[in-house]
Amino acid sequence: MAKGHAEALAPMVEAVMAEANVPFHALTRIAVTTGPGTFTGLRIALAFARGLGLALQIPVIGFSSLEAMALRAARQNPQRLPILAIIDARRGQAYAQSFDAAANAKSSPAILLLSEVTLPNGPTRLIGSGAHLIARAGDEIAPEPFPDAGLLARAAETRPDPGHPPHPLYLRPSDAKPQLLLKGQMQLIRAVPEHASVLAALHSTAFPTAWDGEFIANLLQNPATEGRLALGPDDMPQGFILASRILDEAEILTIAVHPKARRKGLGSMMLARLCEELGSLGISRLFLDVAESNTSARALYDAAGFAQTGRRRAYYADGDDAILMTRAC
Ligand SMILES: CC(C)(COP(=O)(O)OP(=O)(O)OC[C@H]1O[C@@H](n2cnc3c(N)ncnc32)[C@H](O)[C@@H]1OP(=O)(O)O)[C@@H](O)C(=O)NCCC(=O)NCCS
Repeated sequence: MAKGHAEALAPMVEAVMAEANVPFHALTRIAVTTGPGTFTGLRIALAFARGLGLALQIPVIGFSSLEAMALRAARQNPQRLPILAIIDARRGQAYAQSFDAAANAKSSPAILLLSEVTLPNGPTRLIGSGAHLIARAGDEIAPEPFPDAGLLARAAETRPDPGHPPHPLYLRPSDAKPQLLLKGQMQLIRAVPEHASVLAALHSTAFPTAWDGEFIANLLQNPATEGRLALGPDDMPQGFILASRILDEAEILTIAVHPKARRKGLGSMMLARLCEELGSLGISRLFLDVAESNTSARALYDAAGFAQTGRRRAYYADGDDAILMTRAC
């Protein structure tokens, strides 16, 4: 599904329960995958599983998506080969985790450069979209590289209850350069229309006249819009930036950092990352306008190397001048 997962999930679960003729109160455990996966998909599934677990007062057992794949690879493994689950993360990187022949984890899930992925010495059973990228002669590639809900449910039966609900597993690219990312405190993800309400909430903490979710969703639906959302340690949204591409230039439409997250370098990091990413898409210049009285934003842009190119008198509704600024990417 492109969108609408949140609306579809509960009725689907209800239909499956009805088909199996099992009442909800007969459930003893819930299994759910924790990622890596898409931000929205993970949050919807985890929120639903956790909510159901809370209502039924039963444990919710989380499995990484890699572990879920390994369970599938272990099902037909007559030679009892060690297993490596690997998802292609593009740009020469992969999410990877290694397991024994019975899908017991031997390492933690990690995002690695392909050259950093360590394969066991002997023949290995590989599963996932990255398998063909690293397979050697003698390795096996498991067919059907997708998690299987039935296998997860069986594995959850015997898994010890961790005593706390599962959290989404977001893995960061290992090449993320800015300090906040390096310190593992922040991750920057692509903003999609499903994030519109999160962005609107952040926008309302930063501007007296807030953009509503519908307006932001429309912007994000436009293929020329580039949006990035910054998530803090508990995946709490901390800030976002929106830009619009026009030929080989891009205009910063807005940037906002939650008041509690300011002056920690997040605004600069988002600008730097966006500029870097747009640069690799052939964008050579960023431009923007900022209210003359917005001293913090102007200080941010000055610090980020923007130079003033002009002024529009009484441009904003409150009569403030707009300062026009630009920088190369
Ligand atoms: C403008 C904004 C995005 C800055 O985000 P931020 O994460 O706090 O910025 P950073 O921590 O990266 O700041 C980088 C530099 O900008 C300058 N700066 C940022 N905020 C400043 C402030 N309030 N006063 C003075 N300088 C400031 C400083 O030079 C700072 O470096 P330093 O902290 O090492 O001194 C944030 O204040 C915000 O969301 N404001 C409301 C929304 C807004 O006005 N957006 C811009 C619309 S054009």
